Amino acid sequence: MQRLNGKHVLLGVTGGIAACKSADLVRRLREAGAEVRVVLTEAGARFVTPLAFEALSGHPVAGRMFDPQGRGAMEHIDLARWADVILVAPATAHTIARLSHGLADDLLTTICLASSAPLALAPAMNRQMWDNPATRANVERLRERGAHLFGPADGELACGESGMGRMLEPTQLAELLAGLFAAPLLAGVRVMVTAGPTLEDIDPVRYIGNRSSGKMGYAVAAAALQAGAEVTLVSGETCLSPPCGVTVVRVRSAAEMYAAVMQRVTHCDIFVGAAAVADYRPVRRAGQKIKRDRVRMELQLERNPDILGEVSALDRRPFCVGFAAETERVTEHARAKMSGRGLDMIAANRVGEPDSGFESDTNSLEVLWNGGGEAIPLATKERVAQRLVELIAQRYGKRPFAGSTG
Ligand code: CTP
Repeated sequence: MQRLNGKHVLLGVTGGIAACKSADLVRRLREAGAEVRVVLTEAGARFVTPLAFEALSGHPVAGRMFDPQGRGAMEHIDLARWADVILVAPATAHTIARLSHGLADDLLTTICLASSAPLALAPAMNRQMWDNPATRANVERLRERGAHLFGPADGELACGESGMGRMLEPTQLAELLAGLFAAPLLAGVRVMVTAGPTLEDIDPVRYIGNRSSGKMGYAVAAAALQAGAEVTLVSGETCLSPPCGVTVVRVRSAAEMYAAVMQRVTHCDIFVGAAAVADYRPVRRAGQKIKRDRVRMELQLERNPDILGEVSALDRRPFCVGFAAETERVTEHARAKMSGRGLDMIAANRVGEPDSGFESDTNSLEVLWNGGGEAIPLATKERVAQRLVELIAQRYGKRPFAGSTG
């Protein structure tokens, strides 16, 4: 939280019941050393009085454009320049819509348009409003323009319903805001991630596949990108949209993945093998659909290349991170895989359990390296990937000869 020390936080408070939590948010931000100025919309002022924010922030609260008590016609420009970051909490569906359309019909939206500071939004609304395609599109548009979305969380809502739409707690918001000022952990580092399943064709309509959704690998690619890395994602077939800013190479089979990786990996500093690569492929792919005319048939398989093993065996090898999908004796099997392939790190997950592994949106990992390890508890794959990337960055920085040139 030291990262907020001395930072100028412009807090926009709009009209929702979660505005009551924003008073505590001001307190948390100031505790972390930030200077806070509050811009309260007209609707926001119906939930919490300007006086409360004035007392907590130690500054007059800005509200309307051309306020006779304000700092004149240029108040919006002054505040836009003053801010190191703008946090709108709560951000109502209406404010999100206005921001997404670039409206400037009150002081807060005008400041957002006039400022080059990063913009973070903490949505708070009824779950149907959050799910509404109009809100989804507005949020996506803002995200594409670089806005940071903090939440919302799943839980009880003020309207009596329960679901997505609850504003995050002030401590979480302060922490996420501090994260925006973190020095990028992997700035200038080139990372390659493999993700998803490989499909091994039997004939033009059938293949051998597996249950990997690609979500974990895509989350690792997104987290590495967020950490400032230049990311190449070599992806098997998935239904996922790759994170904007990542170079994507699409493949189908293990042989194609192997070729795509080997062609590019020598330019990489870190290699993360998150793909579920088929160990075997049919010896022959039938040119035509195989007919149901035989009572018994045999499918002959041959070994696929071990992509991770080959990368790790290169003379100028990148820092190599493997995944190990295990159903039993997870740590033991994972350690064996790490030493067998000479890896720098391995992330083991138990598959075949309801909340982790293939297809699930959540995961937990046991990350191991030579002489140490850390368990990442069950969380969304995005959150788990962020922690994994932090660990990778730490270990990568500590590798022998790190920091030396040539
Ligand atoms: N892997 C790979 N190429 C292969 C097989 C696996 O690059 N042909 C990588 C995976 O991306 C993963 C790691 O190796 O990072 C381990 O994969 P996993 O399927 O768990 O283990 P295997 O080593 O194949 O061993 P087994 O299937 O016997 O458990």
